[in-house]
Amino acid sequence: MNRSIILGTGSAVPKKILTNQELESMVDTSDEWISSRTGIKQRHIAEDGDTTSLLAAEATRQALEMAGVKPEEVDMIVVGTTSPDMIMPNTGALVQKHLGASNAFGFDVYAACSGFVYALTVADKFVKDKPESKVVAIGAELLSYITDWQDRNTCVLFGDAAGAAVLSGTNDSDRGILSTHLHSDGRLWELLHIPGGGVVYPPSGEMAERRDHCIRMHGNEVFKHAVRSMADVAQEALTANELGPDDVDLFIPHQANIRIMKKVAERLEIPLDRVYVNIERYGNTSSATIPVALDEANRSGRLKPGDLVLLDAFGGGFTWGAVMMRW
Ligand code: ACO
Repeated sequence: MNRSIILGTGSAVPKKILTNQELESMVDTSDEWISSRTGIKQRHIAEDGDTTSLLAAEATRQALEMAGVKPEEVDMIVVGTTSPDMIMPNTGALVQKHLGASNAFGFDVYAACSGFVYALTVADKFVKDKPESKVVAIGAELLSYITDWQDRNTCVLFGDAAGAAVLSGTNDSDRGILSTHLHSDGRLWELLHIPGGGVVYPPSGEMAERRDHCIRMHGNEVFKHAVRSMADVAQEALTANELGPDDVDLFIPHQANIRIMKKVAERLEIPLDRVYVNIERYGNTSSATIPVALDEANRSGRLKPGDLVLLDAFGGGFTWGAVMMRW
């Protein structure tokens, strides 16, 4: 049986840290409110010179090094992002350039916070088709550029980061990606979206003045949908593999809010000591949360070969999805 397996992981964040205390002087908020409502204590924020593609390339360099794969051996680079350097070219092509991955082709998938799970799914399908190929799946965001720093409802939530995974084929029946599960519901797009900058509301001085190129969110509604959809798709992944919550060694949910993660884990009956949480250090980095968490878990020795790992994401669109794998 041909499966894809992750050979290496990497992650990168900008140097600059923005704490909750610093946010107190920017908008009407408090460390107490942010910590208790979200679990976030600080986030990394890009400075001049940082770009999404450069951060993605740094994460990928680490992942390739761990995998023992040279840039010129890479066949495909797929990036989940909602904050690309530019609308064109795509981020994958720019990562290819930064790495000198001269034999690869690159492209992006737009699925907001589900971006990495979508990218990993595309990578998995490609590797199953060509098991000898080397594929990089990335989640990378500089959300600070599409955050309204005058809106306390959203600006306390987001941060910048990138994470990457290198995949190839394996015949080891005890390891690799077991199944992937993707969903979306475009009817609910208005609950979490960026109004300006596209065809419907093209860039203009007025658009920039109103900060309409920034994320707009109905937090309460998003919260409810996130809990329900993440629990449902994780259960779908368990059922598809005839597994139960006790089988899961590490659950890595999208890090949007500690309360969402706890509610999802509770619904699934997965104890919190098997849920990976790092939101206190990075905030919500959209498509980057899951690959950054995966890399941290991997490098800290928390993952052993054969461990059952469940990834679970939810984001604008709405989009949501899960990936079940044996490490
Ligand atoms: N500081 C202080 N008070 C605040 C802040 C703040 N930063 N933000 C909001 N408040 C106030 C509100 O104005 C409101 O005050 P009011 O009662 O006087 O009107 C009060 O706090 C409660 O506001 P709620 O929105 O009800 O707060 P809630 O407990 O729902 O938490 C939050 C808000 C953190 C946004 C939560 O709803 C959430 O996490 N939602 C989901 C986010 C998410 O999962 N996003 C998905 C992915 S994001 C992506 O795709 C890019």
